[in-house]
Amino acid sequence: MKKTTTIVLLLLAVASLSAQSKKPVYLDSTKPIELRVKNVLSLMTLKEKVGQLNLETFVNENDTKNDLSDKIKKGDVGSILKSNGVKNNLRLQKVAVEQTRLGIPLMFEEDVIHGYRTIFPSPLGESASWNLDNIEKSASIAAKEASASGIHLTYAPMVDISYDPRWGRILEGAGEDPYYASFVAAARVKGFQGTNLASGQNVMACVKHFAGYGAALAGRDYNIADFSERTLREIYLPPFRAAINAGVGSVMTAYSAYDGVPATANKKLLIDILRRELGFDKMLITDWATINNLVKIGIASDEKEAVLMAINSGVDVDMTSGLYLKHLEALIAEGKINIKSIDKAVERVLIAKFKLGLFDDPYKFFNEQREKETLLSPDHLEFARKSARECMVLLKNDNKILPLNKSIKKIAVIGPLANRQKDLLSWWGGNYSQGKPDEVISVLEGLKKSVNSYVEINYAEGVKLDGFDPKGLELIPEAVKLASESDLVILVVGEEYWMSGEGGSISNINLPGIQDELVNAIANTGKPIVSVLVNGRPFDIQNLTNKSMAVLEAWQPGTMGGLGVADILLGKYNPSGKLTVSFPINTGQIPIYYNYKRTSHDATGEALKNRWVNKYLDIPTTPLFPFGYGLSYTTFVYSNLILSKQIITEKDELVIDVDVTNTGKIFGEEVVQLYIGDIVSSVSRPLKELKGFRKIGLDPNEKKVVSFIVKKDDLSFYNQNMKWVAEPGKFNIMVGASSEDIRLNGSVELK
Ligand code: BGC
Repeated sequence: MKKTTTIVLLLLAVASLSAQSKKPVYLDSTKPIELRVKNVLSLMTLKEKVGQLNLETFVNENDTKNDLSDKIKKGDVGSILKSNGVKNNLRLQKVAVEQTRLGIPLMFEEDVIHGYRTIFPSPLGESASWNLDNIEKSASIAAKEASASGIHLTYAPMVDISYDPRWGRILEGAGEDPYYASFVAAARVKGFQGTNLASGQNVMACVKHFAGYGAALAGRDYNIADFSERTLREIYLPPFRAAINAGVGSVMTAYSAYDGVPATANKKLLIDILRRELGFDKMLITDWATINNLVKIGIASDEKEAVLMAINSGVDVDMTSGLYLKHLEALIAEGKINIKSIDKAVERVLIAKFKLGLFDDPYKFFNEQREKETLLSPDHLEFARKSARECMVLLKNDNKILPLNKSIKKIAVIGPLANRQKDLLSWWGGNYSQGKPDEVISVLEGLKKSVNSYVEINYAEGVKLDGFDPKGLELIPEAVKLASESDLVILVVGEEYWMSGEGGSISNINLPGIQDELVNAIANTGKPIVSVLVNGRPFDIQNLTNKSMAVLEAWQPGTMGGLGVADILLGKYNPSGKLTVSFPINTGQIPIYYNYKRTSHDATGEALKNRWVNKYLDIPTTPLFPFGYGLSYTTFVYSNLILSKQIITEKDELVIDVDVTNTGKIFGEEVVQLYIGDIVSSVSRPLKELKGFRKIGLDPNEKKVVSFIVKKDDLSFYNQNMKWVAEPGKFNIMVGASSEDIRLNGSVELK
C-alpha cells in the first residue's frame, strides 16, 4: 500500500471515529432548542413519534402488573402521570434514557393543586387572601417540593369560573370573577414555573380545563354545559388568556362541550380561539381519556374517528385513552392525517422536555437527598401557616367577640371537624398530592398549642360526620353538657374532604348530616358560639350564622390549618380575607354572582314590595355574603375619591385616588376594591364589574392613598359583532370594601 493511501485511510478512520463519538445535535446543550428539536425529529420513526404523544398512568414500584418498563422500552410512552417519588421515577427514567434507541426522557406529571407534601389552603380559599405574592409563593413552594420528588409538570392552575357551589370543583378555582381570577391564574403560573423551567426547582404548569367546564349544568360534574360565545369570551376565557400571557407551558382540554362540540374535538375552541386568537402554540393535553369520550358522547362513530377529530383539532397529547398509540400510525398509512400534524404535536412535546432541561440532564429531578430535605421543610410549614390565616374570612363578629377575650378560661371545642386532620386537606390535597393526614394540625390541636396555659380546652364531637346520612344524634347531649359548663363554644362544622373536589357534586348546600341540629342544640344552651367552617365550597349557613356570634370561614386550610385558625381566634393575626365567591342564602339562589346584568324588572328598597319585579317571594335575591366581603378586627374609613379627569378619550389613563384610614386600634389589612359600571352600552352589561383591587396594611390612625389606573381596556366589552370595544358614554366609578359595600361613587365620561 502506498504511503499516501495509508494516510488517507487513517484520516478517514479518525474522522469516522470522531463522528461516532460526537454527540448528535439534539444532545448538544450548546445548540439552540429549535435545532435540537429538528434534529431529534429527523431521527425518529413514526412509531417513536406517536409514543411521545402518549401519556400513561399509574406506576407504583410495588405494582408489578402496571410496571410500564416494557412499554417504555418499546418507545410507546412519552409521559407518565400519577407516578411519584424520586426512587420510582428515576427507575423509569433510566429505562427511557438508557434502553431506548434515542434515549428521549420521560416527563412525569401530577395534580399538584395546592401544595405537594406541605399543603396550602385549597385554591378557592387561597384566592380569598387577595395576596398575589402569597399565591405565587405557595405555587413556587409546591413546585419546589414536587420537582424534588421527580415531578416535571403539574395539572394546575384550574381557572374555571363557576357560579355553582353544588359543583365540587368550585374549590379548585379562584372564585366567580374573571378579572380577579386572571391575576390569580398568572400568579400561580409564575409561581409554578419560575423564570427558568430548567432550574430543576420548578415545574411546568398546565392551565385547565379549556374551556367552560365550570358551567356544568345543575352543578353536576361532567354534565353538559350550555353557554353563549359572549359568556365564553366575557367569563371563561380571561383567566386562560392571563395564564397564557404569563407563559404557561401547557393547556388541558375540558370534559365539557362548547356549542355542542366536546372541547377535545372542537376546532373553533382549540384552533380558532386557543391557537390563533390567544396565540397558544405549546403543548395541548386532553383531560382523562377525553378522546375516548368522543365515542361515548356520540360525535365519533368509533375510536379511530375520535383520534382523527382530536389530532385535527390540534390536540397534542392523549391522556390515558391509549388511542393515539392504537390508531395514529394506521391513519397516517391510510392518508387520513398529514404527517405534518404529527410532527407539530411531537415538536411541542419535545420543546416542553427541552425547556425543562430533560435532554441535558434527565436525572436532575431525581435526588433522594434533596427530596428528603425539601418536603415539609420548616420554612414551607411556616409559610403554610401564614397563608392559611391570610385566606380565612371573618363573616360575622357581633359584639367584637373575636379576638377571644383573655378573661375566657374554659372553652368547649365542639363539632365533627374539630379534631379531623385529613379534612383540612381537600380532595386534592388529601388524595393526589403527598399530603399526609397525620402531618396536619387540626383545629383542636392548633388551639391547644396556642392558648395561654390557664385556658382549659375540652372537646366533644357533637355529631358524627360520616357521609350525608344523619348520624350521631346520641352524641349531642354530651356536647350540650360540655357547652353548658364552658365560657364559650368554638363550633367546627363543614364538610369531609371527599365531599367536594372532582366528582363532588351535591344537590343542596345544607351542612351535611345533622350538623344544623347540633348548632341548634348548642345555641339553646345560651353560651356564645364562635363557628369555624371547614369546607371547599360555600354552604347554606343561614342557621349557623344566626346562632353564632362569630363565624370564621377557614376553608380547607391545609397542613397548618389549625394553627391558622388559632392565630385568628386568639388575635395573633387580624383577619384580612375577603370572599371571592358569593355565599347564597340557600340552594335555590344558585347560580348567584355579583356581576349580574341588568334586567327590565330589577328593583331595590320599597320597589321590592311590588310583585312584578325580578325577585323571589320567599327570600331576597341578594346573597347571604357577597363577593368581596370580609371583616377585620379594625375598621377602615374611605374618603376623598378623586378622579384625575371627568372626561377622557380612549388614549387617556384615568387615575382614581381614594384615602383609606385605619380608624381602629390595631394594625389591619384591607382589600380596597374598584368597580366600574357602563351606564349605556350596545349590549347589556353588569351593573358593576371589578376593575381594580389593592390589599394594603395600615397601622392604627394611618391613612394611605390608594390609586387605581383605568385604561381603555377596563371600559371595553364585546359588542354585538364580538369586537372588543369601548363605547363613548358615562361610566359609574365605585370604590368599596365589597361588591355590596360601595363607600364612594363617581363617574367619568368617555368621549
Ligand atoms: C381531571 C383533571 C386532572 C386529571 C388527571 C381528570 O379527571 O378532570 O383535572 O388533572 O384527571 O388527574
